Amino acid sequence: MKDYQQAAKVLRDTNLRQGLYDEGAVLMEGVLVNLHGEKHRARRGLENKVFRRGFFSHYEKDVFPKTLALGIAQFVSVGGGGVVAFGLRALINLACDLAGVDRPQASQSETDRLLSLMRAFALGTTLAHSKDDRDKVRQQVSEALSAFDVEFLQPSVERRMSLIRQVEARGGEEQDLPRDVLTVLLRNEDQIELDDAQLVREMAFFVVAGAQTSIHSLVHVMHEIFTWSDNRSERIETLRTDPMLVQRCVHESARLHPSSPVAVRRAECPVLLPTEQRVETDEQVTIDLQSANQDEKIFGSRASEFDPNRQFDKGISPYGLSFGLGMHACIGRTLAAGVTPKPDTDPVDHQYGIIALIASALLKNGVRPDPEQPAEVDAKTERPNWGRYPVLLGSNPSSNPH
Ligand code: HEM
Repeated sequence: MKDYQQAAKVLRDTNLRQGLYDEGAVLMEGVLVNLHGEKHRARRGLENKVFRRGFFSHYEKDVFPKTLALGIAQFVSVGGGGVVAFGLRALINLACDLAGVDRPQASQSETDRLLSLMRAFALGTTLAHSKDDRDKVRQQVSEALSAFDVEFLQPSVERRMSLIRQVEARGGEEQDLPRDVLTVLLRNEDQIELDDAQLVREMAFFVVAGAQTSIHSLVHVMHEIFTWSDNRSERIETLRTDPMLVQRCVHESARLHPSSPVAVRRAECPVLLPTEQRVETDEQVTIDLQSANQDEKIFGSRASEFDPNRQFDKGISPYGLSFGLGMHACIGRTLAAGVTPKPDTDPVDHQYGIIALIASALLKNGVRPDPEQPAEVDAKTERPNWGRYPVLLGSNPSSNPH
């Protein structure tokens, strides 16, 4: 299905359940994005307690800039390196904060360990597109889940349980409790069903959902920006001072590069699709997000081009279907992509989203592709993602007269 409006309708159809992760059950069985109906509503309702109004704004304005400033200073001090490795360091911290995975040592080696576990989890989420021996990958994911449980999750659970007991003993004051998914799941005020193995998978999924999708979006937008501003120094100058333009670049790049090029659903009962095609119970429906996001009826005759100044009709998302729609619409969208600006939006207190924040920080520090080391596509997956993207930072020798 390639038509935008039809694709949107299918994503909203509650007779179609998630179907993308059947191959990756080792990680994805029973996690939020793989649940349907009442079970999904109950889990999402509980987890949404974390993401109440004001949470993302607080995270973007007060928490994330500190992490980012430290990371950027370090990246500049060594003159650059890989955007993937740099971005992941910032994003894994963000994903762990939201999920509720403590990093008591706050050390480089602890971050490295989490990153290697997260890479294994990412293989589990994309098993349907893996080019490797799938049973071997399943084994790798399963070992990573056990290690994650012992090394990170159990200590995080113990610390939260002790805080929850203290709060309950005092009669329910909440300000001392961490605001994260693990805490709401442990308190489980809605009394949903969740055993220990399920909790491990849910936490691993949150870490990977927060970090892995965002890193792909970051690298894609940097590449689009480099191409768009190649030999156009005035564009780079504007980008350095105009965060609204950077956010439009993020949205436009997300439209062209959805984290998964397709969404897959399975019919719960016989369904008549908007294409007039009938699918039987359990039959699969593939939604071609990549093509739907380039539907010329919606995005104009140059829909396949990167144009951050594109005009949209009312009601059309600038990032197309890249954050999903309907029951599985991305829970972290406002954090990753910010709020879509209106003509009267005040740039001072606007939410730009953390991808735009990272891209802006890189641009302000003179980011440019490393001419000695070309970027490489990730060979381990059929998904069109960048595996390596070396850049230089700091003053540009070619524009320096000395
Ligand atoms: C640029 C970054 C991101 C992109 C492109 C993205 C994309 C998506 C998409 C397409 C879906 C729907 C999947 C489907 O319909 O099958 C989704 C769901 C989800 N995303 Fe994101 N996401 C991003 C960032 C984040 C972040 C930062 C978080 C962290 C909280 C997050 C958490 C989730 C969760 C938990 C779901 C499942 C929601 C549900 O099933 O109810 N995502 N995301």
